Amino acid sequence: MIIPVTASRPYDVVIERGALARAGERIRPILGDCRLGILTDDTVDALYGEALIASLAEAGYDAVKFTIPHGEESKNPENLFAFLSFLAENHLTRTDALVALGGGVVGDLCGLAAALYLRGVPFVQIPTTLLAAVDSSVGGKTAVDIPAGKNLVGAFWQPSLVICDPDTLLTLPEDTFRDGCAEVIKYGVILDGAFFERLKTPINSAETVESDLLDAAIARCVEIKRDVVNEDEFDRGLRGLLNFGHTLGHGIEKESNFTVTHGSAVAKGSVIAAKLAVELGLCGQTVVDEIVKILTDYGFDLSCPYSAEALYSAALSDKKRAGDNISLVLPETIGRCVLYKMPCADLLPLLKKVL
Ligand code: NAD
Ligand code: GLY
Repeated sequence: MIIPVTASRPYDVVIERGALARAGERIRPILGDCRLGILTDDTVDALYGEALIASLAEAGYDAVKFTIPHGEESKNPENLFAFLSFLAENHLTRTDALVALGGGVVGDLCGLAAALYLRGVPFVQIPTTLLAAVDSSVGGKTAVDIPAGKNLVGAFWQPSLVICDPDTLLTLPEDTFRDGCAEVIKYGVILDGAFFERLKTPINSAETVESDLLDAAIARCVEIKRDVVNEDEFDRGLRGLLNFGHTLGHGIEKESNFTVTHGSAVAKGSVIAAKLAVELGLCGQTVVDEIVKILTDYGFDLSCPYSAEALYSAALSDKKRAGDNISLVLPETIGRCVLYKMPCADLLPLLKKVL
């Protein structure tokens, strides 16, 4: 499957089993002759580093590789500058390119390095987590974290190609795979009710991860994200819908000292958002019930032992706050969400009602 994206830089998203072994031949028509600087993490390197380098060598590419420790803590300015220095020490030039092999951490950091190195070089995303396949590898948001907050330093920099090999997802730990499912379900809730229905056959069952159902689900998410990005690349309106469950989810991650994973926090945040929508008269209780049922079937723990005050104060520091107002993504039906702007002061009493 090839899904074209027409943002400020048009590119294809290739979704194909076995694509990692053919990465070199996919890259050649896009980048031509050049040297490549690969960024990966230690876990992904051990699993797929050799296969990528072999495929690039077969297509005639000379590649150098920089490896960071796995995990969100690595998405920092120190590793960004270490990677940039590595590229310079290896004499990569403006006609060369970068390759991100890994999950969202590697993709976000490599993308930002590509935006900065020599004032911008092309890069290729090879996502190896479900979250990266359906979300972070597409759309050109790149970033690192700083002590003041996550993703606070970044740039919009679109990749030149995305190569997703669903076979690489088979080695993901169960929890990491499930985390990605929260993002997949998100696309159904915000923009595609029929897709939500199809997801009721869980894509994280042992049989489905090896079947076309997983590939089709990834493709549908990429199409939805592509349509949103084509319309609002620089996140001035519609793209905000992709944050369904995230504003409250970020608060939950923070309150739990990051012991609740991102996907799990988004799942809890999605249920709270739906309950807020009921309180505000935007939707009926069946929307909450549908979201709770599908997330429970996927194995998410939806309990939320955090106070309304704690989540409210975390929501106030979210990027979606503008002055005295905050925008929440709230469902009207399954498959249609709105950006609902409200005075920050109204949120606390509402949260107290639903928690
Ligand atoms: P991640 O990159 O940390 O990967 C999760 C874990 O899975 C890591 O330990 C990694 O080593 C391991 N892993 C990766 N691929 C594997 C594989 N195939 N088999 C076994 N293990 C594997 O996390 P993530 O969930 O992929 O991404 C989260 C990041 O993405 C966050 O930093 C978030 O801010 C960012 N993000 C960005 C966007 C965007 O639009 N740019 C969107 C959503 C999330
Ligand atoms: N993941 C949110 C976005 O790409 O806008």
